[in-house]
Amino acid sequence: MKKLSLLLASCFLLLASSGMVYASTTKTGDARFNSSLFNAESADFSRMETIKTWVADKYHNQTSIMKKVQGDVAMTVPQNPFSSHFAEPIVNNKGDTRYFGKTFHTLSAIELPFLQYVKQISQTRSPVTLEIAASMGLVSWKVPFCFQNGGIHYANELSKIVLDQRFEPVVNSRLGHANLTKHLTSLQGDCFTVLDHLKGKVDALYVQNLQHFFNPITNDKFMHLVNDLLAPGGRAYLSAHSFLFQDTEDALYKLYCKQKKGSDKYPGFVQYDVQFTNILGTEQGLEHTITNPIRPADDALITKVDKLDSDKCGVFNAFVNNQVVQVKTRKQNVVSNHFSPTIYQRTIADFPTLIHKDSFFITQEGERKKGWDWKGKISHAAAIVEKVAVPAPVAVTTTTTTATTVNTH
Ligand SMILES: C[S@@+](CC[C@H](N)C(=O)[O-])C[C@H]1O[C@@H](n2cnc3c(N)ncnc32)[C@H](O)[C@@H]1O
Repeated sequence: MKKLSLLLASCFLLLASSGMVYASTTKTGDARFNSSLFNAESADFSRMETIKTWVADKYHNQTSIMKKVQGDVAMTVPQNPFSSHFAEPIVNNKGDTRYFGKTFHTLSAIELPFLQYVKQISQTRSPVTLEIAASMGLVSWKVPFCFQNGGIHYANELSKIVLDQRFEPVVNSRLGHANLTKHLTSLQGDCFTVLDHLKGKVDALYVQNLQHFFNPITNDKFMHLVNDLLAPGGRAYLSAHSFLFQDTEDALYKLYCKQKKGSDKYPGFVQYDVQFTNILGTEQGLEHTITNPIRPADDALITKVDKLDSDKCGVFNAFVNNQVVQVKTRKQNVVSNHFSPTIYQRTIADFPTLIHKDSFFITQEGERKKGWDWKGKISHAAAIVEKVAVPAPVAVTTTTTTATTVNTH
């Protein structure tokens, strides 16, 4: 029965995300399967008042467009139980065995300022914007709605399968009704090799859930790419997974403190064993235990490898919310790079041409966490950086006693 529900849910998601239906009739009373049961006005990000802060003013009086935008936005806010269907494991290109996790629901704390910034700069020009690791386009589809005076949004994604099978139907269904697909161009391939033509041209860049798949060497290279892509005065909005600490006794926390004290730029780069339990057939995690943490070498590959040495691994029946459900317990060895506002600040500080504007933790609901501590179920860290608008002046001393300043090139 459970399997049947999940199958129905997957079929429905395919239809809903491609825009063919909004509400399922299979489970009319269950908000996990029926997106129309969620009240869009009940979450900050999908409230019409919020949507108007990033959608260009010229659409505000077009009721059918605004209502459709609101319905589409509401589908992926974490407060909507339906959004869980958008957590899909990434299907890599053939032969690529790297691990890239799954897609993610809306992280409003970083997505909202990005969209608002695009709207703001589009008041006076046609901006060039870019999302790296756009996946199925859950952020990218919104950008053309921000453009007041035209603009072009590029969506870069490594996986051709994800672009062809998920991104295309999603963006067509969300932009087609407003005739906005002409403002969006997809760029398939590795961000390190396919974005050269955009160097120095990007006014606003968005990157969500990519950097924790990069080891320190690759992340340093990625920050160079960010610096190179941004136009003078352009901004980048970055977010990546943060710590998994449960408390200060956590073995990962102790390792993190030791590394941070030793001035490690990436104290969140760790390798560990994790035993975790998921509801069978879903990405929904119930609990996890972490053991044997170490700080791997800077060039260690990011991996998630099944360990079959535990007799506790397998499928079991368990009580969840007073129901018997099948759960799967697995043990894995993981290498991943966890971010924090401080880690972001340190990576930004390497670049005299990048200015740190803001950095913060994000909660599991996708909201900005007040303060700097990681306690209270954080899920991500985020940073906003700006490329200096004008190169810093360099003092030049002439042979006379007068000193003058010139701009460098
Ligand atoms: C965890 S998913 C995140 C997707 C999306 N940003 C989100 O938050 O749902 C990571 C994505 O990064 C893509 N990716 C990994 N390496 C990449 C690269 N070098 N260039 C472009 N995309 C890359 C993967 O194919 C995958 O779709």
